Amino acid sequence: MGTLPRVDGERMREDFEALSRIGATAEGGVSRPTFSDAHFAAREWFLTRARAAGLDTQVDAAGNHSAVLRVQLHRHARVLLLGSHLDSVPGGGRYDGAMGVVAALHVLLALKDAGTDLPFGVEAIDFTDEEGTLLGLLGSEALAGSLSAESLHAPRGGRDALLAGLARAGLSEARLLEARRDPQTLAGYLELHIEQGPRLEREGVRIGVVTTIVGSRSFRLVLHGAGGHAGGLPMDVRRDAAVAAARLILSVQDIVVHDFPGAVATVGDVRVEPGAFNVVPGVARLALEFRSHDDGELDAIESAVLGRARADAEANGIELAVTPVARWQPTRLDPRVSDKIERAAVDLGLTTKRLASFAGHDAQALAPVTASGMIFVPSVGGVSHDPREHTAWDDVVNGANVLLRTVERLASPS
Ligand code: HGY
Ligand code: MN
Ligand code: MN
Repeated sequence: MGTLPRVDGERMREDFEALSRIGATAEGGVSRPTFSDAHFAAREWFLTRARAAGLDTQVDAAGNHSAVLRVQLHRHARVLLLGSHLDSVPGGGRYDGAMGVVAALHVLLALKDAGTDLPFGVEAIDFTDEEGTLLGLLGSEALAGSLSAESLHAPRGGRDALLAGLARAGLSEARLLEARRDPQTLAGYLELHIEQGPRLEREGVRIGVVTTIVGSRSFRLVLHGAGGHAGGLPMDVRRDAAVAAARLILSVQDIVVHDFPGAVATVGDVRVEPGAFNVVPGVARLALEFRSHDDGELDAIESAVLGRARADAEANGIELAVTPVARWQPTRLDPRVSDKIERAAVDLGLTTKRLASFAGHDAQALAPVTASGMIFVPSVGGVSHDPREHTAWDDVVNGANVLLRTVERLASPS
């Protein structure tokens, strides 16, 4: 096998550093929540960089931003999507999503420079709101045609924030599904992403080949007790919502750790009202999320956790309101694509490991409509969704080259 085309690691690094300066935080990460100014700036950087390289660009009705390498043979050729996302969690890291988008762009540049003859177009796509600041997988579910009116009506980030965000981006809720692609026009989906966990690093493996993506369920919980004077209200008559929230958080931890050891659960946001030193909180609002690779287990966790929460609330004179706000199925990726990824890594002399992803990804929206696969590279210390998030640049370049080589393998009949 002659010398395989490779991405230009130094040119890619310059681009990655330039992108990382957009929305950079003092702690060394990035904060680019969906439709924030920083997010808009990052998306504009992506289109400008693609155009400067002579690539076509497009933005669809869900705000998905793309750079496209079209095949000259015929304009009706299918297109292979190489995606990820430029939005981040608040106070996040530089690599989650952004690394995959930059690598996808550089795969297009390498293919363009090499003049590789492909039977399909290749599109580097930045999906809207992967992280769920507003909804979660908004752009990828719109493209897949699975975005539901129900999820738009009670989105994780709240309906007002969703509508305000769409307005800021110049998008119309009614037209989001115009972004849907006919699956017949797609040649597949590939995503390069950091592992966001410790396994590859712990085992010294360079490339992760993702087999399944975790399912998850999110709920907004509101606990109503009784407010009161922090001095005058005796302890034995209080219905303190903060205490009820603490009890609920500990029960979630206890149930999942002891009864569902393969699952994970998080209460990632807790607010008590009114929020003053000398006022007993009457209201507590919590964001609950749990994840498993098995849908039946998700049902069991939901029943156990919410059942205990309702029983504890009743026993302590607290009212509990539960609103489901997101639900993603455990998703199996295409084993044929995984085989191509594995062989591409071997072509490049890189060790591989098949593993499940405990992070959610746009690939779980694409997998039901087109053959999809994911490539992981190691996260230092397994850290992500945190400014300390880091991946060695050699690993980023390895991942981009495996992405490139997988495109070539998907293009060849063997
Ligand atoms: O939440 C996740 O797992 C992903 O980072 N959106
Ligand atoms: Mn991500
Ligand atoms: Mn993320």
